[in-house]
Amino acid sequence: MRNYKRILVTSALPYANGPLHVGHIAGAYLPADIFVRYCRLKKRDVVYICGSDENGVPIMLRARAEGVSPQVVVDRFHKMIEESFTKLGIHFDYYGRTSSEMHKETSQEFFRNLNAKNQFITKSEEQLYDPEAKLFLADRFIFGECPRCGYDHAYGDQCEKCGSTLSPADLINPRSSITNATPVKKETTHWYLPLEKIQPELEAWINSRENWRPNVMGQIKSWLDAGLRDRAVTRDLPWGVSIPEEIAENAGVESKGKVLYVWFDAPIGYISATKEWAQKIGDAELWKTYWQDEETMLVHFIGKDNIVFHCLIFPAMLMKHGNYVLPENVPANEFLNLEGQKLSTSRNYAVWLHEYLEKFEPDSLRYSLACNMPETKDADFSWSEFQARHNNELADIVGNFVNRTFTFIQKYYDGRLPQPDTFDALDNEVLQQIKNAGENIGTAIEAYQFKEATRHFMDLARFANKYFNDKAPWKTRKDNPAVCATSLHLCTRVAYALAILMQPVLPFTAKKIQNLLNLGDEHLASWDNAQEFPLEPGHVFNQPEIIFTKIEDERIQAEIDRLKTSNAEDKTESDESTFEQITIDDFARVQLRVAKIINAENLKGAKKLLKLQVAIGEEKRQVIAGIAQHYEPEELIGKHVVVVANLQPAKLRGELSEGMILAAVDKDGGLCLVAPEKKIASGAVVR
Ligand code: 2FM
Ligand code: ZN
Repeated sequence: MRNYKRILVTSALPYANGPLHVGHIAGAYLPADIFVRYCRLKKRDVVYICGSDENGVPIMLRARAEGVSPQVVVDRFHKMIEESFTKLGIHFDYYGRTSSEMHKETSQEFFRNLNAKNQFITKSEEQLYDPEAKLFLADRFIFGECPRCGYDHAYGDQCEKCGSTLSPADLINPRSSITNATPVKKETTHWYLPLEKIQPELEAWINSRENWRPNVMGQIKSWLDAGLRDRAVTRDLPWGVSIPEEIAENAGVESKGKVLYVWFDAPIGYISATKEWAQKIGDAELWKTYWQDEETMLVHFIGKDNIVFHCLIFPAMLMKHGNYVLPENVPANEFLNLEGQKLSTSRNYAVWLHEYLEKFEPDSLRYSLACNMPETKDADFSWSEFQARHNNELADIVGNFVNRTFTFIQKYYDGRLPQPDTFDALDNEVLQQIKNAGENIGTAIEAYQFKEATRHFMDLARFANKYFNDKAPWKTRKDNPAVCATSLHLCTRVAYALAILMQPVLPFTAKKIQNLLNLGDEHLASWDNAQEFPLEPGHVFNQPEIIFTKIEDERIQAEIDRLKTSNAEDKTESDESTFEQITIDDFARVQLRVAKIINAENLKGAKKLLKLQVAIGEEKRQVIAGIAQHYEPEELIGKHVVVVANLQPAKLRGELSEGMILAAVDKDGGLCLVAPEKKIASGAVVR
């Protein structure tokens, strides 16, 4: 790492529209926190900035689903997210929010600056508009079929199935996410960042980057190879940072409802939060040094879905503004899966941080994620591995070593540091191992290799345990007290070194060991102190206490069971924690009728489907239903069921289906048809 004068670290601003889960932590927060804690211990001038991303369509969608204002949503989640970070020991110098006045001013200034330098182009064009909701449909407000992979619920900004970046006009058969209406076209004006023109400059800068992760470079190169497209940096929305009024006026555009695109203002949130930090510490201008002096090393920690914004678009904005440093590195992480499957917020298939923190220790998660960080490829979090890491490594190796050392000293040395005698080869090896660990962990962290760093740390603890065994103080106590005292003395030296070297990954455990050692903060505040030892023989330790208790199987099984229920395949893609409310008119659009099944047969080559002939009053229809694994065709004939009678006909396996039969499905995959509770004529309206 070049010897920059100061370091500015940022972690992606989480959207304040839901709680954090382990995937977020492994991606953008834990690696940054480890890095920053290490830098602080190395006495580097480092500032760590983050905050809530409170603008944009995801927030509005959540607010609409709950029937509350976006402000209510962001206030709730900002508080919750900040609390979870604190409890997990993710320690920012400042945690801001993009709904703040400072953020508005800073983002508008940025926009004004680029506008004054003619760095935008404006385009007036027809865009998709929801006539019922009276809203232009950008980003997640619109969905439709992905033109690349055919997925039927791709959004106006991205297809989550194949990862393609899209614009609303790309979607096949687009629909409004708010009203389900088919959009109409309406003219509007927007400001674009001309990335096509900026590409050569960006490319030159990217080519000058050293030591960037291959997966990050790979993604950037594929964007550049495909050729960057100009990006709209404004939106027509009622929520967000409004564009400066005079700019709208000059362009002959109504400024009301014209806001900055969330991906334009969000990264500027790093700057506004740094300004707020500077104000807080009483040196309001200090933010400039961190953002504008060439001697600042700027590092963005993010997940891989944010690469294009942090490696191309935000740098393009910073370049064109002119007064800012560009990131020295963007060590983006890949994704974390859960028990072999993709995490899904909408299916509640996640380990939610606030829930985790009510049940388990923060360091157990920090350790487990650090060992298994998705640094260069996707990784998997499993509860059994989490348990094994806690029980077999934290408890059996670190905990055991610390416990046996201090218990022994308590018992046989009256809780005081023994006086060492001469060192033999193995004793000298202890000092060497401490030295190696300090260097190896440091080198790995500086190279953003956090898994490797954690491994080196645990190797030292493993060595220490073995040293204790090999020295067998329970024997030497009787037959060679000098050797016994030396070995216990050295064990406390390792415990002291561990308490320093574990701080980046295990800050809470480090504190516990510090308490056992009975030492003030100043002795543990420097990485290089690990090579020294501040204690004199006779120093009194505190009473030992167990630092890790094992996690029993039942607690882990309960978590696995919870995931199984959230992960039932039949869950819908809507957010289960809230029901999106609809009006009676919305409901009336679905025409439900009682139908009588007059024939049923298996559909060749389709294990799950049955071909049914039904009568809705006088009308006969064919319906293809995915119920073959729950009903035999014969048992259905003659039954009365409920069908959606006004569903657009579709072809399934080449067979026409003219309706849908209603069925109830439970979390365990059970299914039963919905039937009238008493005899009633087919064709009867269900309402
Ligand atoms: O992907 C996300 O969660 C975004 N809220 C990240 C924003 S990062 C930065 F640009 F603010
Ligand atoms: Zn797709």
